[in-house]
Amino acid sequence: MTARRLIPSVAALVVGFGLATGGFVIALSSETALVEEALALREGMQVADVGAGDGDWAERLAEKVGPAGHVYATEIDAGDVEDIAKRAERYGLENLTAVLGTATDTGLEGGCCDAILLRMVYHHFTDPAPMRASLRRALRPGARLAVIDLRPREGWGDPSGVPNRGGHGIREEDLVTEMTSDGFEIVARYEKWAESPYRYCVVFRRADGPAVSEAESLQEER
Ligand SMILES: C[S@@+](CC[C@H](N)C(=O)[O-])C[C@H]1O[C@@H](n2cnc3c(N)ncnc32)[C@H](O)[C@@H]1O
Repeated sequence: MTARRLIPSVAALVVGFGLATGGFVIALSSETALVEEALALREGMQVADVGAGDGDWAERLAEKVGPAGHVYATEIDAGDVEDIAKRAERYGLENLTAVLGTATDTGLEGGCCDAILLRMVYHHFTDPAPMRASLRRALRPGARLAVIDLRPREGWGDPSGVPNRGGHGIREEDLVTEMTSDGFEIVARYEKWAESPYRYCVVFRRADGPAVSEAESLQEER
């Protein structure tokens, strides 16, 4: 572990460093452990953090999978992709690659991933069906996709262009319906996630003999 990563990790454990979210403080160290459990993360795995934002979670994943593993941090924001790549280079994270995606494609190679993290991203998808197809294509058989999301909150303002789901976020039931209709099955559910009453996590994997959606068929023809 690099000194840059060690110091914040120790600080998180010692002083209970947290992220303020939804009016609650979530202990970062406990969420990191939960993410590792949800993804069944191990050294040597090939993992993607789709919608990586500033790349903090991708960096944590890169530390965990180690030099024998690899992390792909995808974003639709070109500025974020550039920043993630610069930070990976500056801190010598050779096992972290920033990937530019689009609103309909993760940018990941087919079958590249042993696990995918989607943290607070699904409800930002403006075109969820082709994104589901792209995620599904990137997962190896049995690989986990952990979707951490938020129950809809009115008054928070929806991200622009997303389906109307009654507030900022998505109901767990709606997420499950959308995913299971499109070739995923549930592996695990966390109805409460990291101390927050608003967040939850559902872990999926590719279902055997899935019904391939029209969106995926279109995607595969490209
Ligand atoms: C609320 S942020 C979450 C960032 C990070 N996952 C985290 O937990 O800190 C949502 C991110 O999803 C990204 N995003 C939205 N739609 C996307 C898509 N189709 N593919 C990849 N990233 C997307 C946005 O650019 C934004 O950075």
